[in-house]
Amino acid sequence: MTTTKHQLLSWLKDNRHRWVSGEQISNRLGISRTAIWKHIKSLKQAGHRIEAATKKGYRLQEAVDLITPEGVQASLQTRIMGRPGIIVLDETDSTNVKAKEMAHQGAQEGTVVVADTQTRGRGRRGRTWFSPSGRNIYASIVLRPSLAPSQAPQITLMTAVAMAGTISASTGSDAKIKWPNDILMGGKKIAGILTEISTEMDVVDFVVVGVGINVNVEKEEMPDEIQEIATSMAVESGRSFARDELLCRLLQNFEAGYKELITRGPAAIMQQWREMTDILGQRVRVDMVNRKHVGIVQGVDDDGVLILKDDKGEAHRIFSGDVTKLRASNRPG
Ligand code: BTN
Repeated sequence: MTTTKHQLLSWLKDNRHRWVSGEQISNRLGISRTAIWKHIKSLKQAGHRIEAATKKGYRLQEAVDLITPEGVQASLQTRIMGRPGIIVLDETDSTNVKAKEMAHQGAQEGTVVVADTQTRGRGRRGRTWFSPSGRNIYASIVLRPSLAPSQAPQITLMTAVAMAGTISASTGSDAKIKWPNDILMGGKKIAGILTEISTEMDVVDFVVVGVGINVNVEKEEMPDEIQEIATSMAVESGRSFARDELLCRLLQNFEAGYKELITRGPAAIMQQWREMTDILGQRVRVDMVNRKHVGIVQGVDDDGVLILKDDKGEAHRIFSGDVTKLRASNRPG
């Protein structure tokens, strides 16, 4: 989408359900009536329902929140992310699966795969990721970092910082990070990250970072089992968000974090991560594959390892697991 057409669409969205005259558009965007008409025609062809009436002007009838490569790229200021291509699919099993296939076939760093809906959206630990159409963001990014496989978790932590920052700035409310990479708002999950890595001879061949953000989905649309534990940007803020603009902002923040991590290491990113989490000093239970620990979170080191002191005073270094905050009164004795 050209920048002018994109600006026109944003303005119509800001004035949703109100008439905007040709003269107002022409003054604001500095374009002729004929140019306006051409842009309106092409927006309509892309599926946007815009009414036109003599003496009144134009009005966006219904929000068809499409994600298009042009919509994401319109104001994208990145050098890597999205530059080799943004592939937008109407439907796919999982964008991570597609991105991994493409990476195996040689897709360049920064390739982004997005889907309007996923039929087998995947979460961490074999869970499914609720992926309705027309509502949320499901995107996977191919990276080819010069990192040892053991450093790959740093990419996930960096992504969590970029996601929480983007969601907080867009909604005006604080998104928090729950170790290792859940993004919460008001204690409920608003976004998640699934990182998958392919290695060759102990070096990283590629990393696929899959991000899912609950953007415009309403509580009633969620399956019963997640209604009380999940939320969305729309639920939290009472307004809807243009998914392509949000993805654009996320890619920019993601690229800034990635560059910092690759060139300077994890220290600054991890400092931001610690400022965005609310588990430090908290009493938690950590469920791992075949055991669990209860104790106070002492810290998270620069490799993302959780340091927990249990009730006997013994310190544990935990590499992965599910954290549940406990109330201080759950302490035995
Ligand atoms: C989690 O369990 O918190 C991780 C959720 C990750 C979901 C995203 S949506 C885009 C990408 N494709 C997938 O199948 N999963 C990730």
